[in-house]
Order: sequence, then structure tokens, then C-alpha cells
Amino acid sequence: MRLEGVHQRSIGRTADGKGARILDQRLLPWEVRWVELRTAEEAARAIREMWTRGAPLIGATAAYGLAMALAGDPGALDGARAMLLATRPTAVNLRWALDQVADAVRALPPAERAEVAFARADAICDEDVALNRAIGEHGLALLRALHARNPHRPLNILTHCNAGWLATVDYGTATAPIYLAYDAGIPLHIWVDETRPRNQGALLTAFELAGHGVPHSLVADNAGGLLMARGQVDLVIVGTDRVTANGDVCNKIGTYLKALAAHDCGVPFYVALPYTTIDRTMASGALVPIEERDPDELRLLTGPDAAGAIRTVSVTASPAYNPAFDVTPARLVTGYITEEGVTATL
Ligand code: MRU
Repeated sequence: MRLEGVHQRSIGRTADGKGARILDQRLLPWEVRWVELRTAEEAARAIREMWTRGAPLIGATAAYGLAMALAGDPGALDGARAMLLATRPTAVNLRWALDQVADAVRALPPAERAEVAFARADAICDEDVALNRAIGEHGLALLRALHARNPHRPLNILTHCNAGWLATVDYGTATAPIYLAYDAGIPLHIWVDETRPRNQGALLTAFELAGHGVPHSLVADNAGGLLMARGQVDLVIVGTDRVTANGDVCNKIGTYLKALAAHDCGVPFYVALPYTTIDRTMASGALVPIEERDPDELRLLTGPDAAGAIRTVSVTASPAYNPAFDVTPARLVTGYITEEGVTATL
């Protein structure tokens, strides 16, 4: 990821190797602030309160959190794993990453556990970068082919939420093909859904794309149908928090509506994901636990005022309901872009 002109990852170990360093994404794009997590409890809080977010990145954060717990108490494995797993229910990467660390250390003598756990968390991060890079390469071939059909105009891609490098260790999933295509000289324009209520599109995806120089326009969540009906979207690419055994896709609330509009308008709808997001133990999307977050995420907005001071204001006093994810049935998905290639089924 290119941040303040420097290539770096969204998570890594602290300088002393005993903690994890993350961006506080609640402050973006207004302020770039790195924070150090020193305990499993701090890691859990950062995930729950969405200082850090996105399916692969919460998995990586939890992996470091478990390593920190073991450094403090080698007997804390099951308790700390349960605490970290309870932070957010929907993204299966969280469980996957915790199981990776737990399986690596369970049979070891207590004194060896923390070091192996940290090494496993490092490996999870390295693997995530490689997976996303591979997703990018396969997605690049797809974008190249689609652009070749209309070579005299930019390829218009719509994306929802943030499945970018801020949601992973690097590259992102949905954004990896975009970054690689941009770097390869394919002319692109990205429609960025604002993604109410937390505005991950407006605040995070737009920030990322601007940092990389990719042309983009923010649109209200409700604009996608019109743009697709008018032929202003060549394809949709989204990320996902969990794909079930039948290919159903759970992702940020509003994704399903984009898939419906894409289907009606004949616009290809692609889902970019690594294998770590596939839950073959779950038969269909109807079984995925859908996180319900604080209704204040709808009622309040935070940002700088004219003088630059960060303020939180109410936009309504009404009662509200805030489901954070929805499920797009497999029948609405044109293809899955994975580290292995682009496939119609998984
Ligand atoms: O609630 P968030 O911001 O964690 O939701 C993130 C998403 O829905 C992403 O699309 C998904 O995690 C894929 S990230 C590569």
C-alpha cells in the first residue's frame, strides 16, 4: 500500500516485536495515526470498535492478539481465543486465523508458545499479501479482457465498502485487480459506493484510490442502479466476509442490492476473495451470523468542521436498526476472483 508516499503494510509487529502496529481507521482520511496494540484485550477492542476492520485484517490482528495473550500467560490459549473470536461474528477469517495460531501452539511446551504464535501471525500476514497479489494478477487478466472490448474508453468499475489494502495486509481483494490494472496502464474509473452507515467507501476506499492515483468518483449508495441501467458500469467487484459452501456471498450491507441491479442490467458481478474467506462448513448464506451494530452508527456522523476540528453530529433522533452485512445468493455472482483464478463456481 502506498501511504504518505511510502510502501508499507497495514499491520506489522511493533519495533520490539512484542506487539502489533495498526492504523486507527476511525480517524481516516482526516488523520493517519498508527497505534500499538500490546495485549489481547487491546487487540479485541481494536477489532470490536473497528479501529481495524475488513475480514483478512481482523484475522491478522486477532492472530497477533492471541500471540500477545500467550506471551503474558502461556495457559491463556482457550480463554484468549474465545475472547478474540467474540469480537465480530461475520467474517470467517477471524476464526480461521485464530485456529491457525491455536493449532500451531497447542501441543508445544508453554515456554515455546508465544514465539511460535508470533511467527504464525507473521506468516498469516505474509500469506495474505501473496494471496491478494495473486487475486490481483488473475483480476488483471479479467480487466484487460473487458477493456479490450471497448478500448477507447476507461473501464468503469463499481465497488462497495472497502475491500482494499485497509481491509487486508496489503493490496486488498477487490482492489488488487484495480491497482495492478492501473499500474499496467489500463484506463480505469472507479465508482465508489459511500457505504452507509460507516462510510467505508467514502472514507477509506476513496482515500486509498486517491493515494494510488486511480481515477474515481464517490456515489451515494442508491446511485448504483441508475449508473448500471445507463451503461455507466462495466463490472462490479466486491470483497466478502464469508462465502459459504454453496457460493453465497456475505458482505457489507448493500452488496445484495448492487448484485440485484447488476443482474437486472446485465452487468457482470465479481467477488474477490482468498481461500481464507471460504467457509465450507456452512451450507448456505442463510446460516451466516449477521452482525448487528449500534444504531448510533446511523444516527451520528463524525468529521471535521470548517475550522478542522473533528466533531460528531446527529442526523436524526429516530429509532434505527443497523444490520452490518447481507447475503448475495450465488446465482447473482458472475464469478469469483481467487488466488487460483477466475471461476464461475467455487
Ligand atoms: O464492517 P467492515 O468494514 O469490517 O466490513 C468489511 C467488508 O464488508 C469487506 O468488504 C470485507 O471484509 C472484505 S475485505 C477484503
